[in-house]
Amino acid sequence: MEDRMMDADKQHDEELEEYSLRPSTLSTYIGQRAVKENLTVYIEAAKQRQESLDHVLLYGPPGLGKTTLSMIIANEMNVQLRTTSGPAIERPGDLAAILTSLEPGDVLFIDEIHRLPRTVEEILYPAMEDFFLDIVIGKGPAARSVKLDLPPFTLVGATTRAGMLSAPLRDRFGVMSRLEYYTPEELELIVKRTADVLQVDVEEEAARMVSRRSRGTPRIANRLLRRIRDFAQVRGNGSITGEITDESLKLLQVDRLGLDEVDHKLLMAMIERFRGGPVGIETIAATIGEESHTIEDVYEPYLLQIGFLQRTPRGRIVTAAAYEHFGLEVT
Ligand SMILES: Nc1ncnc2c1ncn2[C@@H]1O[C@H](COP(=O)(O)OP(=O)(O)OP(=O)(O)O)[C@@H](O)[C@H]1O
Ligand SMILES: [Mg+2]
Repeated sequence: MEDRMMDADKQHDEELEEYSLRPSTLSTYIGQRAVKENLTVYIEAAKQRQESLDHVLLYGPPGLGKTTLSMIIANEMNVQLRTTSGPAIERPGDLAAILTSLEPGDVLFIDEIHRLPRTVEEILYPAMEDFFLDIVIGKGPAARSVKLDLPPFTLVGATTRAGMLSAPLRDRFGVMSRLEYYTPEELELIVKRTADVLQVDVEEEAARMVSRRSRGTPRIANRLLRRIRDFAQVRGNGSITGEITDESLKLLQVDRLGLDEVDHKLLMAMIERFRGGPVGIETIAATIGEESHTIEDVYEPYLLQIGFLQRTPRGRIVTAAAYEHFGLEVT
């Protein structure tokens, strides 16, 4: 019980920290150069014309900064941000309530937009295109459709799966930005910035190590840094040295490429039980006891990126590079 409460406290603290770890302007947002350059122009142009910014779709693997960017967009446009998510909007009326309460120019951020119910999505089309709502009120013979004008607004949608958006919804976004994995150099800057915010000393070597083992993902870099800070505080004198980082990463079971327990379990299961594949995603999921969509969204993209997995029409295959990483012979 006590432990659980401590966990809850810790989580609360981390959520607060998370907030201050997020850069609040485009110029302090590290990496994603193409996305940033484009957005800078579109935001500037919209401001000059005193119009709302066109709708923006942000997509890419988890933890790369989609939520952070949505906050930055509202901040740079000097408007308010309203945040919600696909699964939170159950009925057309829920969306209507949000849309009619917006101020002109506001940013509405819908996270996990691929999970919007179809009925809700349909009323979003005219809202995005012409800023009006067409909703049916009442039931049966008394039902009638009403048209409501909306203030101009910017919809920022985020998804880990652009492919799961329906074509009509996707087509209504004027700006589509794909976030890419960060380079180790960019992550090193992020790690140093985070260390500054957390007011902890981090050695050059330590920052480099963390940045190389974070799977190109700022959220992972920040999470590892926090855990290493715990080790440094309890086992060391508080500073994050190379040595403490190396030890901590071992205890955290993060290998030299940043692969963790689940990555290992996934690859080893494919190698040992299916001779490296091809194996279907559902079979892999059942074998290692993870949800298939978690594998597809969280684990697989990075393994594909570093060339440890390949996708074929018959399923996933483990590559020779992965065998080599584990010191195994390709069978
Ligand atoms: N470019 C960046 N510079 C500095 N920190 C960043 C950057 N991008 C993301 N971060 C940090 O990484 C963490 C995760 O970012 P964020 O929550 O925006 O990711 P996300 O793409 O919305 O993830 P999800 O798909 O899981 O919702 C945040 O703590 C944020 O501070
Ligand atoms: Mg997010």
